[in-house]
Amino acid sequence: MTAELKQKTVVVSTIEEIKKITEAFRGGTLGLVPTMGYLHNGHINLIKQSLKKCDHTVVSIFINPRQFSSGEDLDIYPSNLAGDIEKLESIGVDVLFYPNRDTIYPEGFKTNIQVDGITQHLCGKSRPELFKGVATIVLKLFNIVRPQHAFFGEKDWQQLAVIETMTRDLNIDVKIHRAPLIREPDGLAMSSRNSNLSTGERKKALSLSRSLNDSKEKVKKGITSSKQLRQNIKSIITAESGTQIDYISICDPISLEEKEEVKGRTLIALAVKIGPARLIDNCIIGD
Ligand code: PAF
Repeated sequence: MTAELKQKTVVVSTIEEIKKITEAFRGGTLGLVPTMGYLHNGHINLIKQSLKKCDHTVVSIFINPRQFSSGEDLDIYPSNLAGDIEKLESIGVDVLFYPNRDTIYPEGFKTNIQVDGITQHLCGKSRPELFKGVATIVLKLFNIVRPQHAFFGEKDWQQLAVIETMTRDLNIDVKIHRAPLIREPDGLAMSSRNSNLSTGERKKALSLSRSLNDSKEKVKKGITSSKQLRQNIKSIITAESGTQIDYISICDPISLEEKEEVKGRTLIALAVKIGPARLIDNCIIGD
């Protein structure tokens, strides 16, 4: 398709407008890809899944303040609306929903969605507002856009588990699709937050994927003790100065309960603070 023929992405910011547009899509299937913007190839991969699966795709960009606790990186969360729109147009997205904070949380907003159990582990321990904020905004977006399909990346493994649980428990008529974590050629998990890293910090951040690869190798060689694997991951990451480990979890991929031994399908998930960014990464090992 030539640049001249490329279809424009319609950008709407009010609930009335997005409802009117999505109402007109009701004859076909509608996919939603919720994002906080600063789109990278991980997002593009999700959006392409939706474009392939659904007749229409709505992408939302909203930096959701309710999923940040005070002192976290809300104020420095990267954004580039013009760049994002260009990317959306280049792959043929119909509509971008880009609401402002007052539209989503008008004066008097009082509701929170709380998913129990799985939110007590991993990121939920150190980021108390995160999953309440995520579940609330995602349910709100589902109610506003009313998609039949929604797409989320496995980089945010726990977030996906929370959204799947909420969707099941509340009988929400949306099929949740998972897409694999996408890495940069050097192994760094793609994240909008990577743009806040200096060149030196970015190099240190490679210790996350390096430690996961090393664990995979160790498990292949028969080392299955979580304690030993955790110790090994810790030494690889802390060998880089200025890295601050939040958690190293070796757990069941569904319940997110810690495992003492890598037996069967196991999730290794990490969160590490490097400079201004808190980075997460994960991999599945075992059968
Ligand atoms: O993964 C994200 O970008 C956000 O947590 C989401 C799902 C868009 C909710 O704000």
